[in-house]
Amino acid sequence: MVTKAVIPAAGLGTRFLPATKATPKEMLPVVDRPAIQYVVEEAVAAGLTDVLMITGRSKRALEDHFDRAVELELALEAKGDPARLAAVRETNEMAQVHYVRQGDPKGLGHAVLVAAGHVGHEPFAVLLGDDLIDPRDPLLSTMVEVQQREGGSVVALMEVPHEAISLYGCAAVEGAGDVVRIHGLVEKPPVDEAPSDLAVIGRYVLSPTVFDVLRRTPPGRGGEIQLTDALATLIATEPVHGVVFRGRRYDTGDRLDYLKAVVRLASERDDLGPELLAWLREWLPQQP
Ligand code: UTP
Repeated sequence: MVTKAVIPAAGLGTRFLPATKATPKEMLPVVDRPAIQYVVEEAVAAGLTDVLMITGRSKRALEDHFDRAVELELALEAKGDPARLAAVRETNEMAQVHYVRQGDPKGLGHAVLVAAGHVGHEPFAVLLGDDLIDPRDPLLSTMVEVQQREGGSVVALMEVPHEAISLYGCAAVEGAGDVVRIHGLVEKPPVDEAPSDLAVIGRYVLSPTVFDVLRRTPPGRGGEIQLTDALATLIATEPVHGVVFRGRRYDTGDRLDYLKAVVRLASERDDLGPELLAWLREWLPQQP
């Protein structure tokens, strides 16, 4: 059974400075919810209601978001605003959220290792807090099913343009189709050395054996302890499968992808979409 989700949210967010100087990038609003709320909702939708967030500096905003806001609730009650009251309450009722600090942000692998005590000996999910999967394109529940069937670990993969592969972890795979066996993983390879165009994206369902491997994994690319390196080692002893995702995904830690996420998700909403699209149609032709 997979019941626990780990959400690393302790990165420095340097690509989004100065917005992320005092606010974690996971708290940047995507339409009217912080990015991290979509990620927690995704975990809950896949049946994972025990959430451990790995936080760093400025963790208060994250904690406060998933905590009760009694004053705000009273004010909304007094104003007679049940819709907003429900939205405020929802965030502290959706999951049991725990927090642990990473200390030094020594890399994603290190952030996952910090979860070892909480996770114990069960397989668990990892969802990167700045990676937004469109709620209409389910991915995590498929990954949990594959892990339960095949054992070992499961990684989400996405086909990216060949020249973009050096920005990601890259998988060498056997077979084709939506579920593949991974036989090699390399973090951010040079384009001409990449074994495929399949990039690792921010969803994993991992065997707890990964903790033993992470403890022995030296710093890799960028001097960081890389989760990809630990998974590459794990392949020698346990199956690692890939689920190829063909849906919509946004890296909200990247400014351009963040803007695309906001425009796309807002334009598809009933309450904002029609007016936003009408404005965009009028405004775009006026651009050079
Ligand atoms: P990124 O590679 O996006 O790194 O991390 P970053 O430092 O947060 O962002 P930039 O590149 O400086 O803008 C991928 C995920 O891993 C988490 C991040 O919070 C993000 O969800 N992470 C990364 C940690 O929790 N700890 C780390 O030490 C590194």
